[in-house]
Amino acid sequence: MKIKQRSGSLLFLMLTFFFIAAITQTNDHDKNSNKLVEAASDTVLKTPTTGEKLYSEACAACHGVSGKGVAQSQLGFATPVPDFSDCDFASREPDGDWIAVAHQGGPVRGFGKDMPAFGMALSEQELQQIMDHIRTLCRDDNWPRGELNLPRPLVTEKAYPEDEAVISTSVDMENEGSVMNELVYEQRFGARNQVEIVMPFGFRESPTGSWNGGQLGDMALGIKRAVYHNIDNGSIFSVTGEVIFPTGDRATGFGKGTTIFEPFVSFGQLLPANSFLHVQSGVELPVLRDKATEEAFWRAALGTSLTHGSWGRTWSPMVEVLGSREFESGAVNHWDIAPQVQVTLNKRQHIMMNVGVRIPADDASRDTQFMVYILWDWFDGGPFEGW
Ligand code: HEC
Repeated sequence: MKIKQRSGSLLFLMLTFFFIAAITQTNDHDKNSNKLVEAASDTVLKTPTTGEKLYSEACAACHGVSGKGVAQSQLGFATPVPDFSDCDFASREPDGDWIAVAHQGGPVRGFGKDMPAFGMALSEQELQQIMDHIRTLCRDDNWPRGELNLPRPLVTEKAYPEDEAVISTSVDMENEGSVMNELVYEQRFGARNQVEIVMPFGFRESPTGSWNGGQLGDMALGIKRAVYHNIDNGSIFSVTGEVIFPTGDRATGFGKGTTIFEPFVSFGQLLPANSFLHVQSGVELPVLRDKATEEAFWRAALGTSLTHGSWGRTWSPMVEVLGSREFESGAVNHWDIAPQVQVTLNKRQHIMMNVGVRIPADDASRDTQFMVYILWDWFDGGPFEGW
């Protein structure tokens, strides 16, 4: 009986002990989180929340006050931190992409999870303030901003100087068959310049029905310079000089048989509601005028970008209008229209695809063409990164 009573009171004592321990724990926890909330609201109430202040509180621990990134030895992880003060890198990334990374964390754009998500702690407006501050860390506005890098149409050339590789294919859908491919390699140099190399190759059906396979077309080399760009009014204007060399066989329809100079201007404009306009115009001036005719061309593409959810894939439907006219008496204007849609394929959004058709809009005998390209913005990572 006594033993029973004793063990009963022991049990009671133990329960009381655990109960008190549990209560004090909760109190400690509450105290801690209260302190955190107080500290946070102190920051919000007592200090004006400038982008710089928010950046130094939320980002500088890893990215450094100067934006160059804190030394690896102090970070405790191996993922290298990007350098926000490097204009060549920072200027080309649009705010929207970086806000997505800061809001959702690195993995939303195929980066490492060492870049944490701030969506719970900071509003999109605060992240925009931080971005505005990050923009001041690159001190040279000679570099065109990434917002001006509009989605690439199938035919019209962009004004923005790019680091990209594009493989495009156009397939004639009516008369004789033709599958022409074009490999375009573009590389920036300096803040505003770009060199591009174009290598066409393909297959063509002869009127007798046999196919000429795997032949090289006329290769081209071009230099582009963005002569004007302004993020405030959303415009960019470039001048390009291109030389097309007679590397293709004229007899089988793979080349023009003469060197052609092709100077052109291109213009890009951001429009309200994530819409955009490209305009390109130029002339083709063959050296041997009996082989190819002099011709003027003008092209425009109007499109808009739609994002899947808040941070997902970007779809950019566009319509291109393509005009040309030979410099000959009695020549007529040729018109094509090309509806198409570009879509980003991976999370990093540096691999894209565009699919469309190019339809003759005058009564010429040109074929309707199916067109497609795959684009790799190689500055942003390898082709298999960021999926
Ligand atoms: C805990 C450390 C840490 C903090 C804090 C941090 N970052 Fe990062 N951030 C990283 C790392 C590491 C990377 C590189 C990730 C990679 O390349 O996989 C990165 C990458 C980024 C990128 C991607 C840049 C690119 O390559 O396109 C952006 C944008 C970014 N951080 C913004 C921010 C902002 C804004 C803040 C503050 C709100 C912030 N980061 C706070 C560690 C951090």
